[in-house]
Amino acid sequence: MKKNDVGVSEYTDLKQQIFRELLKMHIRIVRGILPRNEWADQRYWYIDLTAGPGKYDGHVGSPVIFHEEIEEAGMPYSAILFERGQKFYESLSKYFEEMKNSGQVTGKVGIFDKPYQEGKKYTDFKRYRYGLIYIDPSGGLPDFDYLGDISKYKANQYMDFLINISGTNVKRLRKSPDVDFSENLMELLGKLDKKHWLVREPYAKHQWTMLIGTNWDAFPKFKGRRFFRTNEPDGRDLLQRLSMTTSEYEEAYQLTLFD
Ligand SMILES: C[S@@+](CC[C@H](N)C(=O)[O-])C[C@H]1O[C@@H](n2cnc3c(N)ncnc32)[C@H](O)[C@@H]1O
Repeated sequence: MKKNDVGVSEYTDLKQQIFRELLKMHIRIVRGILPRNEWADQRYWYIDLTAGPGKYDGHVGSPVIFHEEIEEAGMPYSAILFERGQKFYESLSKYFEEMKNSGQVTGKVGIFDKPYQEGKKYTDFKRYRYGLIYIDPSGGLPDFDYLGDISKYKANQYMDFLINISGTNVKRLRKSPDVDFSENLMELLGKLDKKHWLVREPYAKHQWTMLIGTNWDAFPKFKGRRFFRTNEPDGRDLLQRLSMTTSEYEEAYQLTLFD
């Protein structure tokens, strides 16, 4: 896959559908929480680390979905979008420019044409805030060290993380002799300062999945879309399967059978 490829596949529509439903639910939850927490910034914060072009090949991407949902909810908001591909950055900027000119952008939107790793100062903030940090890179893996760092910023303590990732890609990289990389998915998630994780049942042979990291123990399960808590048996098993190769999983399973 090319560096700035948006990565359209038969999985794209499902991913965007789930993202929209999740976001709808999340906006509703944050809207309910904010008035009871006056010490927090009273906007919904959306940070998209790998924003993409906005609209492409008849699809709408995550920043556009966010924009549609937040405007429909009529909630104050701030969005920070990173897109390192110049063409995609321009396409995304054009979308928001047109929307702004027709009076359809009521919140603050900052778009940056640089890798998210260079934008730490934009993801730090003084006041506690609520919202979502989303990462959905096409081919490579998210930069988990970076995610770990920003998850530790005090103001991001109530921000939830959403990660779209292929379990197969993580396993391939771990086994590749060409890269110095040995951590499994469970270990990578451990870098983030989030107490609870929900994992979605993986899709197709690349094991595409979504992970939600949160400090809120009552985060809804989002069961209709096959999300499971990783501290419960179904979710724990899914995360293990996503973290281990088939032989590692079978070996671990055999050991527990004969322990
Ligand atoms: C799968 S695509 C877009 C996904 C987007 N969530 C959507 O729904 O359209 C991933 C995008 O991330 C961008 N990208 C990848 N790594 C990045 C990085 N380190 N910083 C900023 N953008 C990045 C790529 O250029 C690509 O456009």
